[in-house]
Amino acid sequence: MSESTKSHRFIQNVDLLQVCEQFGTPLYVYDADKIIEQIGKLRHAFDKPYVKFKYAAKALTNQAILKLIKKQGLGLDVVSIQEARLGIKAGFEASEIMYTPSGVSFEEVQEGIALGVQLNLDNLMLLEDVGKAYGNTVPCCLRLNPNLMAGGNANISVGHSRSKFGIPASRLTEIRKLVDTYNIHINGLHIHTGSDIVDVDVFLAGADLLFNMATHFSDLQFIDFGSGFKVPYKPGDKSTEMKVLSERLIERFELFCKTNDRQLEMWFEPGKFIVSEAGYLLAKVNVLKQNPGITFVGLNTGLNHLIRPMMYNAHHEIANLSNPDGPKQVYDVVGYICETDTFASNYELAEVRRNDILAFRNAGAYGFSMSSNYNARFRPAEVLIYQGKPHLIRKQESLEDLLHNQIDINL
Ligand code: LLP
Repeated sequence: MSESTKSHRFIQNVDLLQVCEQFGTPLYVYDADKIIEQIGKLRHAFDKPYVKFKYAAKALTNQAILKLIKKQGLGLDVVSIQEARLGIKAGFEASEIMYTPSGVSFEEVQEGIALGVQLNLDNLMLLEDVGKAYGNTVPCCLRLNPNLMAGGNANISVGHSRSKFGIPASRLTEIRKLVDTYNIHINGLHIHTGSDIVDVDVFLAGADLLFNMATHFSDLQFIDFGSGFKVPYKPGDKSTEMKVLSERLIERFELFCKTNDRQLEMWFEPGKFIVSEAGYLLAKVNVLKQNPGITFVGLNTGLNHLIRPMMYNAHHEIANLSNPDGPKQVYDVVGYICETDTFASNYELAEVRRNDILAFRNAGAYGFSMSSNYNARFRPAEVLIYQGKPHLIRKQESLEDLLHNQIDINL
């Protein structure tokens, strides 16, 4: 077996085909070593005592994954009260959780306050609510809109002026008025510009905005630069150059702190960088179908399990684990959902046969966490390869799960 085939089929010497036999398909499989390796890369690039990483839980929220990441000493970034509760259940202290909701009710913000998480608000209405009710007793971070267009796809570009996220810097006077009226303690400033950002200059432009704004808030403890670090999706693909980014950002950050006599922490909230490459979606070939000019490979999965290709036009490398050395042929790889759910078009794969197992790469981030029960399909099981062994960390759903919250009425 060639080296590249081997690297597709084995994780920590565990044979993925055997894992499929043991746990069935479709199946999400995660490599704990890869997660730890990625965290090591971040730490190595930003090797400063004032840097903190908060894993963006939304990328993948399984308890085992959260526990693994907690064990590496990271904090957590959450966007809902439920993610916060999942994080606390996995062992994170509320104080190490950054809570960045979008457009939630004041009641949900109050739940966050009761839990003791760090608030990150991007809405002046909520800032006023918090100020009125809590004065300076609840520190708030402000999410700003950097007015920057960046990200791998329009749907994941969230820092531009027409995006719903963040408070525009141009509203500084109103922010200051609220802060002064209610004596609100602004302890952090934050931006998040988008996902899959290659261009280091985008991060630096965002940083400049943060530094400008930071001069208007004297009680800051941290500046949060968000995330958006791009990982490679295929061989030779571009990714964010972390070393270049860290050198330039650290230089500017230290200069800002020195010039303004501040001692601040530098926060990041990576999701994809930590878990994307660690995850695989494994699926079985149900059917092959020959149309004029196209051979379809129909899998026992679909956009209900991996929505990224349909939602963001995302590229996921696919490998035929069962017939790696077969002659190359061109296919359209599609799902079993009764709606167009194309994973890849005109895609070259080693000859595909019925019941072969195909592996999708980069499925760790926003794979399972965006999965659904569309078409009343079960969400798949999840397996973590940890210390050389596969561990089932979520069972496949069952019909009972689909019916769990439904209430039968007499009709
Ligand atoms: N911080 C905030 C405030 C965010 O909104 C996000 C992602 C992150 C951090 C983590 O970003 P990352 O490191 O993963 O790029 N579902 C899309 C990505 C949406 C990201 C939403 N926010 C996808 O599958 O590409």
